[in-house]
Amino acid sequence: MQQCLRICGKQKTQGSIRINGAKNSAVAVLPAALLTEKTVKVENLPSITDIYRLTDILSVLGAKVSILSETSLGLDLSGVDSFCPPPGLVNQLRASYYLMGSLLGRFGRVDIPMPGGCDLGPRPIDQHIKGFSALGADVELEHGVMKLQARKLKGAHIYLDIVSVGATINIMLAAVLAEGKTIIENVAKEPEIVDVANFLNAMGARVRGAGTDVIRIQGVKELGSAEHIVIPDRIEAGTFMIAAAATGGEVLVKDVIPKHLDAVIAKLKEVGVGLDIGLDWVLVKESGPGCLLSSDVKTFPYPGFPTDLQPHMMVLLTRSQGTSLITENVFERRFRHIDELKKMGARIKLEGRSAMIEGGHELTGANLQAMDLRGGASFVIAALISEGETLIQGVEHIDRGYEKIEDRFASLGVRIERIGGI
Ligand code: UD1
Repeated sequence: MQQCLRICGKQKTQGSIRINGAKNSAVAVLPAALLTEKTVKVENLPSITDIYRLTDILSVLGAKVSILSETSLGLDLSGVDSFCPPPGLVNQLRASYYLMGSLLGRFGRVDIPMPGGCDLGPRPIDQHIKGFSALGADVELEHGVMKLQARKLKGAHIYLDIVSVGATINIMLAAVLAEGKTIIENVAKEPEIVDVANFLNAMGARVRGAGTDVIRIQGVKELGSAEHIVIPDRIEAGTFMIAAAATGGEVLVKDVIPKHLDAVIAKLKEVGVGLDIGLDWVLVKESGPGCLLSSDVKTFPYPGFPTDLQPHMMVLLTRSQGTSLITENVFERRFRHIDELKKMGARIKLEGRSAMIEGGHELTGANLQAMDLRGGASFVIAALISEGETLIQGVEHIDRGYEKIEDRFASLGVRIERIGGI
């Protein structure tokens, strides 16, 4: 039997929670380590399956991995001798595409199957390829395997057609050891990109401008050893903030960078959630039933409202008085959670890339199927606010990005049972 989560409704999150390291940063930092032949220590890694899979991939490629603690790894990259990551592991996570940039940078060659990950509609990688080609790589797709090869990577001036987190990081990885100067324009500005750039620079790379529209990289001959602490996960933080707002509990979200959550904080305030903000914490204050307002939410690349919290926000807005509109501008078909939320009685109408949510109607427990990571997490919040019992199947999607979600919520006084499986 597959594992599922059983959740009784009408539970409030209460207490305080420390936020883990950022998934989307960690899944790029580990592949980035392949660019050095020395040793690296990475701290504040989240304990999630995407990280376990990436660690397995690094081992297969020849890295020596030492587990230093639950959240830190030591890597000795001197023995890495393969540019062919194993297909069975690569197709388990989206972020395996970062092995393209890092192995191309290190060996001038990579053979890799197309990455797996959440089905959020079409997720092309044409901008990554455009960047690699501009740096001098030949690209071939043979029987589903992407083969990239370059005699020598050379710095280039690249203008991205679309603002893409993945393409920005991947091209940055490939350019670090390329000869000469690379300029990448119209890049994404997510904090995770800045974190990866900081790690690369700690290893001796010369990356400037991460966090702005233009990244400039002066190629260096080799990278050295480094130690790096991954930044806090703003999406995990947002998840617990929205859960508190939806369930009406008071929760202190600790060890975060509130600046990274500006768009989320602004939107929560707009719908009437009380918040106090500190240097590295956010307090979501208790709110009474029926006091949330409707709002319009538009997802955008950072610093806009994150698409990764769109499903959670949708659940929150089912509690608001009046009608809200969510427009998804990043992944136009990221709405697979709607049919499941409708099973709970949510009144949501989808038109193109906009969803209209008629708030103020009670949700009831149902059997739900998580089909992607963030949608799955939003079902947990929906289950907590609903009447009766909810079963969530497809927990493996949630486990890719949230560390033992039932334990995390248990620390906030909420009971979630994991049943089935071994
Ligand atoms: C990353 C995050 C994911 C988040 C997303 C948007 C990781 C591992 N994942 O995904 O959690 O939801 O950013 O914040 O960090 N696109 C193209 N061509 C490309 C690349 C992207 O058309 O070559 C499109 C995508 O289909 C999408 C948009 O650009 O519509 C943004 O995608 P992108 O920022 O690349 O997302 P990911 O890196 O896949």
